Amino acid sequence: MANLNWVGKDEIKTHHQKVEYQTIDCKEVIGDSESENLIIEGDNLLALKSLVPYYSNSIKMIYIDPPYNTGNTSWVYNDNVSSETIKKWLGKSVNAEDLNRSDKWLNMMYPRLKLLHKLLKEDGVIFISIDDNEVANLRLLMNEIFGKNNFVGQFVWRKRTGSNDALANLSIDHEYILVYGKENFENFQGEKKDFENYKNPDNDPRGEWITDNLTCNKTATERPNLNYPITDPKTGNTYQANKNRVWVYSKERMEKYILEGKILFPKKENGTPMYKRHKSEVRSQFKPISSLLGDFLNTEATKELKNIFKKQVFDYSKSSNLIKFLVLQATNPNSNDIILDSFAGSGTTAQAVLEMNQQDNGNRKFILIEMEKHIAKPITAERVKRVINGYSFKGKEKTELFTKKLTSSQILNSKTMIKIADEVAEIEKNKKDNFTKIEKKFENNTITLNGITEIDEFKNGIGGGYKFCQLGENLLDEFGELNLNLSFSVIAKHLYFLEFKQPLKNPPKRGNFVGEFRGNFLYFFGDKKFTFSDLSSILLTLNDYEKIIVYTIAKEISPEIEQEYNLVVRKL
Ligand SMILES: C[S@@+](CC[C@H](N)C(=O)[O-])C[C@H]1O[C@@H](n2cnc3c(N)ncnc32)[C@H](O)[C@@H]1O
Repeated sequence: MANLNWVGKDEIKTHHQKVEYQTIDCKEVIGDSESENLIIEGDNLLALKSLVPYYSNSIKMIYIDPPYNTGNTSWVYNDNVSSETIKKWLGKSVNAEDLNRSDKWLNMMYPRLKLLHKLLKEDGVIFISIDDNEVANLRLLMNEIFGKNNFVGQFVWRKRTGSNDALANLSIDHEYILVYGKENFENFQGEKKDFENYKNPDNDPRGEWITDNLTCNKTATERPNLNYPITDPKTGNTYQANKNRVWVYSKERMEKYILEGKILFPKKENGTPMYKRHKSEVRSQFKPISSLLGDFLNTEATKELKNIFKKQVFDYSKSSNLIKFLVLQATNPNSNDIILDSFAGSGTTAQAVLEMNQQDNGNRKFILIEMEKHIAKPITAERVKRVINGYSFKGKEKTELFTKKLTSSQILNSKTMIKIADEVAEIEKNKKDNFTKIEKKFENNTITLNGITEIDEFKNGIGGGYKFCQLGENLLDEFGELNLNLSFSVIAKHLYFLEFKQPLKNPPKRGNFVGEFRGNFLYFFGDKKFTFSDLSSILLTLNDYEKIIVYTIAKEISPEIEQEYNLVVRKL
């Protein structure tokens, strides 16, 4: 496998392990107080590390939109890595003239991607927006961290329609979204298949069907076993295989299909037999989505944010429809899936999750992280608050009700066109009361039906809620000792993760018992010496166990007792 090397790689490889755990303090609640959504203000390196004990292997979808390292917008590499090379870079602006630009960017991304990998569920998926500046480096970096085998694809996403003034007279109108799974990612939801061509003119009890090709893209020399004649049992007419495109099925399978009436023989001897494909045998109701994304322009994103704030408050936001599309493809509505965006910017991901839940009654959650103080509260959190509670707005809002790309043969087929017109008229009739007007468009062979709502003063909120959080105290003090000022439940979560590398789902609020994993029982004695009488009390509560693990400030217990009771005492 091709490996990527850069200045600082050796020093950065273990950096994520050295980053301190901090507490995440959530003091402000907006909207629904039960909501598990979080917006965290802070550097994502620290925030992601602090999320690990709570959400390790728990995040279903990650979307990130990191700085692209274009040179046009400067950023600062400030991770506190103890290496002389890297220390020289700290606090200095990274811009177009910086010869170490890519090195710094890779050093910034590496530990964050390592932590994101830890947080992702085994069947989860990560999407990363990027452009030509770093896409090649990012692919190699992701191969290293997520594994080449877990590369799912690379969306090419059209960001503008008009061309820009460009070097070499080439207008770059697209960006990319890299997609990697973890170990068990299976597939996207896909796009609903269109079954309108399936009919049942002969009242076949097996239901609606279409005629399908019976040949394949192989010659008689390439597949001699598929080159055989077939006979219509009713007429006795025989049909030879086409030498350039032989039959698609083996002789045995073809004979079975003939008996089952699945082969449609032509009336004329020189016609072509076809396959009768029933709707019931189509394995999935969904077809694959395209890796080309064309409907989510940057202008749409800018307008959307401007509508919420009445002015331009943020420069590089993405369209919430783009993120909604990814959320729809990668998550389930009713599995409490968590979506994480650790370069949150204007908070588009939160809006997309809330809107997607509203659309399909879902219960997905979001976690957003934004580092900049002047963005996290006044823009990220404020946008989400307005989406939840509503905001004053005068203008038009568009909701897509129907879209269909037609093939040329469909356009020329009057029966198909009448059917589509009927379908459109039906939607128009059913939806017209929900909108100010319905707009119909036919462009690039695509029929689109949009519901237009003219909003006079106020756009209603869609509900939901979130907690606004900041990073708090370090888990360990300056001597590397556990910070005993923290609440029991915070300590419990961290000790549990330290011991079992699993997040503790329901931490107890008080007491000494922390949690259990595979028969191993974990206890915390932070304010007293652990004695034999404590062990006796624990034993009274346990019927069967593998090991008892105790974190304590001091112990008064002999090694023999530890051995006899399978007890492990760890000193804090
Ligand atoms: C390109 S913007 C993301 C835009 C976002 N997708 C949207 O639609 O608004 C990148 C954001 O990441 C933030 N950021 C950069 N480095 C960060 C870090 N280390 N931790 C957290 N946020 C960071 C920046 O402040 C910026 O707001």
